[in-house]
Amino acid sequence: MTAPLLDIAGWRLAFDGFEGRAQVLDGIDLAVQAGETVGIVGETGCGKSVLARSVARLVEMPPGRVLGGSIRFEGQDVMAMDQRALARLRGHGVAMIFQDPMTYLNPVFRIGSQLVDVIRAHDKAAGRPARGRDAARARAAELLGQVRLPEPDRLLDRYPHELSGGMRQRVLIAMALTGTPKLLIADEPTTALDVTIQAQVLRLIADLVAAQALTLMLISHDLGVIGALCRRVVVMYAGTVVEDGAAEAIFADPRHPYTRGLLAAVPDLERPGHRARPIPGHIPNLLSPPPGCRFHPRCPLAVARCAGEKPALRDLAGRRVACHRAEEVAA
Ligand SMILES: Nc1ncnc2c1ncn2[C@@H]1O[C@H](COP(=O)(O)OP(=O)(O)O)[C@@H](O)[C@H]1O
Ligand SMILES: [Mg+2]
Repeated sequence: MTAPLLDIAGWRLAFDGFEGRAQVLDGIDLAVQAGETVGIVGETGCGKSVLARSVARLVEMPPGRVLGGSIRFEGQDVMAMDQRALARLRGHGVAMIFQDPMTYLNPVFRIGSQLVDVIRAHDKAAGRPARGRDAARARAAELLGQVRLPEPDRLLDRYPHELSGGMRQRVLIAMALTGTPKLLIADEPTTALDVTIQAQVLRLIADLVAAQALTLMLISHDLGVIGALCRRVVVMYAGTVVEDGAAEAIFADPRHPYTRGLLAAVPDLERPGHRARPIPGHIPNLLSPPPGCRFHPRCPLAVARCAGEKPALRDLAGRRVACHRAEEVAA
């Protein structure tokens, strides 16, 4: 097997605050090979965004604090990178898009000038002289065409507020692709968009990933979104990976009670009598997370061992699952 593009091992991260230390990521093990499409799913607050931001070293420290583990991209330790290596990582290794494009666009500058700046910054990060503004503008128009925005030349002269949410997200995708990254991390990229626009943007992401042979890490609380784009699904609960495997296997035969709960919470439109059942309870307060399996207080199968011993992520039924009772969880 070739070395993974991304290798997260034993990654533990906390946030220190007035109330104490929130243990947000509790030993994440996740290796991603080049070309994989990986969906990360879990309820809000499970640590998906913090994990994504960790990969590009975007978690602010403090208040963030690494308690253990490592993240390697193409074999290089991300936490040990100097500023130049980090600029290269963010320019040409990992690109990210987020839920709210407006946060990442400057309202007072035209789309064109923002794209030109990003293009020139990427040139410098790659160690070559930045291209001139006209050449950068031509490249910007080309990128807008790639994300299927009509009349790219006119769009360059618009301000962000003149664009719809879907158009803004396309502009952000264009920016993310500027440096020809290897790994695209999309964190709830369509959550803020209308359903029809959501489908178009997902289609665009899927097409770009295929055309540019990108590795995709797609983060969503929505299993439907993950299922549409990803061949592999990683389920997170309260800062831990609870199940990880091929999308078909996870959807058809979930082995972690939390995964089962997530699937049961999705309304099934093809079965009219089917009632979506949300998982009772809430994710735990991470200032004092439950001992043992973090899911045990909400788990219908929990026994004494679950509160006493943290289940390891182990191989079972063709995937990895972290549950003492996974053998007893049948489809
Ligand atoms: N900068 C921060 N400071 C303190 N706590 C944070 C910070 N960022 C995230 N958190 C906490 O980390 C936990 C995981 O958050 P997040 O990764 O955003 O969850 P998700 O993306 O799965 O909804 C939450 O409890 C959140 O409050
Ligand atoms: Mg998030």
